[in-house]
Amino acid sequence: MSASGYTSLANLGPQGRWRRVLFIAMVPMLCAFGYYAYESSYIPKSFRPSQYPYQHNVSLPANDISMETMIRALYSPILHPVNAPNFTDEDGALYRLPRTPRFNEKLGKKVLILDIDSRPLTDNGQLMNEDLRWNDMRPLSAGMLSHYMFAMIHGYDYKFIRAPDYTDRWGTWVKVPMMKEALKTHDYIVFMDSDVMFHYPHLPLEWLLNYWNMTSETLAMMSVDPDEPQNYDEKGNRYLNTGFVIAQQSKRTQEMYKAWAECPSEKRYKGCEHWKKDWAHEQAAFGNYLRYDFDRAEDIKVLPCAEANGAPAAKDRGGCIGIFVRHFWVNKGLLKESMADQVMQYFLPRLHQHYLANSHEHIIDKKGFKLDNADLIPLTEEEKAALKKTSNENQKDEGF
Ligand SMILES: *[C@@H]1O[C@H](CO)[C@@H](O)[C@H](O)[C@H]1NC(C)=O
Ligand SMILES: *[C@@H]1O[C@H](CO)[C@@H](O)[C@H](O)[C@H]1NC(C)=O
Ligand SMILES: *[C@@H]1O[C@H](CO)[C@@H](O)[C@H](O)[C@H]1NC(C)=O
Repeated sequence: MSASGYTSLANLGPQGRWRRVLFIAMVPMLCAFGYYAYESSYIPKSFRPSQYPYQHNVSLPANDISMETMIRALYSPILHPVNAPNFTDEDGALYRLPRTPRFNEKLGKKVLILDIDSRPLTDNGQLMNEDLRWNDMRPLSAGMLSHYMFAMIHGYDYKFIRAPDYTDRWGTWVKVPMMKEALKTHDYIVFMDSDVMFHYPHLPLEWLLNYWNMTSETLAMMSVDPDEPQNYDEKGNRYLNTGFVIAQQSKRTQEMYKAWAECPSEKRYKGCEHWKKDWAHEQAAFGNYLRYDFDRAEDIKVLPCAEANGAPAAKDRGGCIGIFVRHFWVNKGLLKESMADQVMQYFLPRLHQHYLANSHEHIIDKKGFKLDNADLIPLTEEEKAALKKTSNENQKDEGF
């Protein structure tokens, strides 16, 4: 994700297509807030949405409409600090850091946001098709573009790994050796299935690492699955969901991933072979063997289902509402709406503040007149006073 501009949009190479896809999806956004990006290098005074208590002045390069700058213009002024003592979600619930934060600086490129897929994804509406349109975008494209955007917002690294297939195992197994490889080049990796998204793009990963107690000894963090019969392992504990994994580089993490990928060989774990093809595949292998083998206190952090699994639509499935990280197994159709949410929850207050701040240009007050057939007749002072008492008679609240 270099910071080159868009001057050669038509000549972009294969890597450039990513940006082009996102660029096209965001043209409307550009049109509306281009004004800010050009005209001001600080947040306008009028921009004070209560939902974002931390505000920063951000310098933006003049005459630069690259995707990077557009995204900075939208998100940088309201980024949540990595070590803020608390976070208030959109419903007003307060989350406090449980201890003195360990992460006080941004991790930048030490973090890898990782997509892994072995499929071509070139059909209509899919990510690798050159011509992706909002109206027929398929759900997983929204997921992966949202990962890309999250990385851009915070300056993390992003990679999509086109994985080779195993000849004898179910497709999702490829995550394991691919994550293992990625942990050789980055200190922290965040792997997400393409139906997983961070719900608050302005909340940095470092804050969540502080909140979820990532220590120097932690190998990986995963969320527990909903309390339903199919989600229990052979020992009667609930599976950890491998659709969202934060892992930290270490020698022991490499050992764990090696043991995981080799699980079906049964060299170390008797009985693992059938998980090659049986559901829940690599997740069942992890749940039945790895987590009991790598079981030092800090090895595996189990994240609450409510915070890092499911979505509000899955409320009845064990309360897994995906407060910070949403996993749309409940309905993949919700991914697109959720991606829109990730932009609109920030874009809307900006647009709205702009609307109000410039109201002198477009709000026309005709309340000082009365209507008489086709004519507007100025009200007398007595009429104005009388009007105050009856003003809402022929109106109703918005609605149906
Ligand atoms: C941003 O800069 C403006 C103009 O210099 C200043 O008035 C304002 O207080 C600054 N705001 C923040 C949040 O630093
Ligand atoms: C959250 O943290 C901010 C910054 O320290 C503080 O001003 C605020 O009082 C805290 N909110 C609550 C409810 O504790
Ligand atoms: C983090 O630590 C706090 C306080 O010790 C604890 O309440 C919380 O459950 C821990 N979170 C995780 C994800 O382990």
